[in-house]
Amino acid sequence: MNALGKQISFHDFQHKVESFRDAVLNGLSRKPKQIPPKFFYDKTGSKLFEAILEQPEYYIPHIERALLQKHADEFAELIEPGAVWIEPGSGSCEKVQLLFERVLPAAYVPMDISGDFLQQSACYLGQQFPWLPIYAACLDFTRKMILPQGVPQGRRIVFFPGSSLGNFEPLEVQHFLVRIHRLVGKGGGLLIGVDRKKEQTVLNAAYNDAAGMTADFNLNLLSRINNELGGNFERDRFKHYAYYNDPLGRIEMHLVSLKNQQVNFCGHDFHFTEAESIHTENSYKYNPDELINLADVARFKHLKIWSDSNHYFSIYFFEAY
Ligand code: TRP
Repeated sequence: MNALGKQISFHDFQHKVESFRDAVLNGLSRKPKQIPPKFFYDKTGSKLFEAILEQPEYYIPHIERALLQKHADEFAELIEPGAVWIEPGSGSCEKVQLLFERVLPAAYVPMDISGDFLQQSACYLGQQFPWLPIYAACLDFTRKMILPQGVPQGRRIVFFPGSSLGNFEPLEVQHFLVRIHRLVGKGGGLLIGVDRKKEQTVLNAAYNDAAGMTADFNLNLLSRINNELGGNFERDRFKHYAYYNDPLGRIEMHLVSLKNQQVNFCGHDFHFTEAESIHTENSYKYNPDELINLADVARFKHLKIWSDSNHYFSIYFFEAY
């Protein structure tokens, strides 16, 4: 039991998180310059990401939410009550809530790198579902997924919505799926939402919303370097750039320098030529056959797939064998 109440416990594994300082120093020393996407999610970044999820051009959450609502009974058939639901990168925990009343988990384990946001979301969730034990784990799921002590027995189900899988490199996807397999064990489940390949205009619009939320979110990385590492980036000397790289099957996000400039933080100088970019994220798109093959290599058997009528996005249920 802890300050958050009887049913909610908070477990901080944050010391295992790679330091922001090391990652940025390292990433900006490389050619091409890059920063891993997990560092988007400070408190401001997590809030901006919630705003992205509301943008009409960013179709993923709208389609996914509709699919989760429409097929909740089918999920409940495949995943009997009493399972332990684990969600890496849980954010606001908003999507999984659509299922709780139907699938009746024994416990829920939200995992997120953003500690404040995780606590807030877990508390809110606890109010909505007072019967549900919640074990919030603050950690970097790209490194290690640890189940807090006291999590009950029961079939383990990893819920991984929002096409977050697309943010891994294809090789990392294999490793990640193997780690999920280890976490859930044979017979465990993976309920996962993954974005599909489609017309480039639709994809490009999704990552360049008219309200500029994705641009703000991307540029917030520079503010974060200024605030936490004493940097002197000027945000208006960089621009958000996102486009679909068709041969590689991925959206790329960059911060592009608008001029020749030098920036300093943590006692180091970094030079940017005009049009030089910091590569901040990839979002790979997979068609069902591609994803089913990837999952099979990690010993996940594909049991069912649900898609919208445009075939923009799919939810899959896999079982570990
Ligand atoms: N997994 C989401 C995706 O790749 C994350 C995402 C959506 C995102 N929009 C973004 C990440 C903008 C960074 C910037 O679609």
